[in-house]
Amino acid sequence: MKRFLLFFLLIGIFQVHSQKNLPTDYLSKEFHKGRREAFRALMPANSVAVVFSYPERIFSKDINYNYHANPDMYYLTGYKEPDAVLLLFKDPQGTEKYTEVLFVRERNATREMWTGRRLGTEGATTKLGFTTVYNGKDFNDFKIDFKKFDKIIYDKIPTNISVSNNADNLYSLLQSFKTKAGISEENQASVDLFTNITNSLREIKTPEELVLMRKTVKLSCIAHNEVMKAVGPDMSENEADGIHAYIHRHYGSEEESYPPIVGAGANGCILHYGENNSTKIDNQLLLMDVGSEYHGYSADVTRTIPANGKFTEEQKAIYQLVYEAQEEVFKICKEGTPIQDLNQRSREVIANGLIKLGIITDPKDAKIYYPHGCSHFLGLDVHDKGDYSGILKENMILTVEPGIYIPENSKCDKKWWNIGVRIEDDILMKKDSYENLSAESPRKWEEIEALAKQKSTFNDMKFPKI
Ligand code: GLY
Ligand code: MN
Ligand code: MN
Repeated sequence: MKRFLLFFLLIGIFQVHSQKNLPTDYLSKEFHKGRREAFRALMPANSVAVVFSYPERIFSKDINYNYHANPDMYYLTGYKEPDAVLLLFKDPQGTEKYTEVLFVRERNATREMWTGRRLGTEGATTKLGFTTVYNGKDFNDFKIDFKKFDKIIYDKIPTNISVSNNADNLYSLLQSFKTKAGISEENQASVDLFTNITNSLREIKTPEELVLMRKTVKLSCIAHNEVMKAVGPDMSENEADGIHAYIHRHYGSEEESYPPIVGAGANGCILHYGENNSTKIDNQLLLMDVGSEYHGYSADVTRTIPANGKFTEEQKAIYQLVYEAQEEVFKICKEGTPIQDLNQRSREVIANGLIKLGIITDPKDAKIYYPHGCSHFLGLDVHDKGDYSGILKENMILTVEPGIYIPENSKCDKKWWNIGVRIEDDILMKKDSYENLSAESPRKWEEIEALAKQKSTFNDMKFPKI
């Protein structure tokens, strides 16, 4: 009888916690299953792959950052919680002939009341489609002879994890794995194999992923456009950042895909500027490198705009050169182009342009003002997985993001100082051409100036003075 009561009590608690009104466009369990099958197809004979969740990280004393799943774990399983491990086998195992086992966080009514819902083994079965699922605490006793496999494939082992005696947390899972597999230090060959397999899968986006990529980029463009309308010299960097975040959330994006870079004037010349704390943008250029993450998928869009709505002659000259570099790179965006060529082409255009403007005399010096690469893969990671030594292929998505940054005291006429311009778009590669997924946000200086003249909803918002 007592057992029944406990059972109903627990069911009751879990029911109170059931979720309502969730988004309906998450990746399907069939998608994740398909990715595991594709992964398995690339595994060498008689091998096992072991994938761990990312650790949780401290934000403040006993408060963690919002948890962000390991993109590989999410891609292969859809599981977004910490303290999990996935085993994928090349060949069926045991009498049950299983090819995959997922270990997840055990359900716990008390913990769930404090830190949030858990999927548990049942959810991993019904919602994610796994047939062999255990609680993490069972991993240590799980019968597996790692030594019988010709290859154990695993990624870099996460470090700086708090030591714990709890059998079901990441620390214990990693310790058990090392003991069972007889691993004392990371094996680079194994990490390389894991990386090669995940690179070759994740660099090509499936139709389901393209739906989410289009959405995350589109809503990021809407945010950029709204800020173009709303911004003025009196606005702060933080406030412009906040408008992006508000619009992302309005469309259901969970977070930003990287710390937003919203830098005015000199701050725009700092590549990974993140303080965003200048209280007044003034009559300066504002560089905004901000993108949303939607169901795990990253946008990465940069626009550079004059806060007062009009580029100066010098700002326009630099802007136009970055724009031309982008346009020239777009021309070679299609299947077959070596990926390194994107960078090379942008460098040539910028070097020639800087010479014409009298900012440099030697093309080699272009790297002083354009110190970063032009393109990276985009997807679950903002700097996504992919083979940079290869060629462009259909359904890859890469950024095209040339930039010119001329900080104060640079060795050129000071009329150029404190101009920092980057234009960044998210480009879907096709067989004979490309599609600019971020085309909805204007890049031409005339179009930016025209949009800046429009009024934004945010201009009408009034808050008490404090
Ligand atoms: N936002 C980071 C990058 O553009 O690579
Ligand atoms: Mn980028
Ligand atoms: Mn960016």
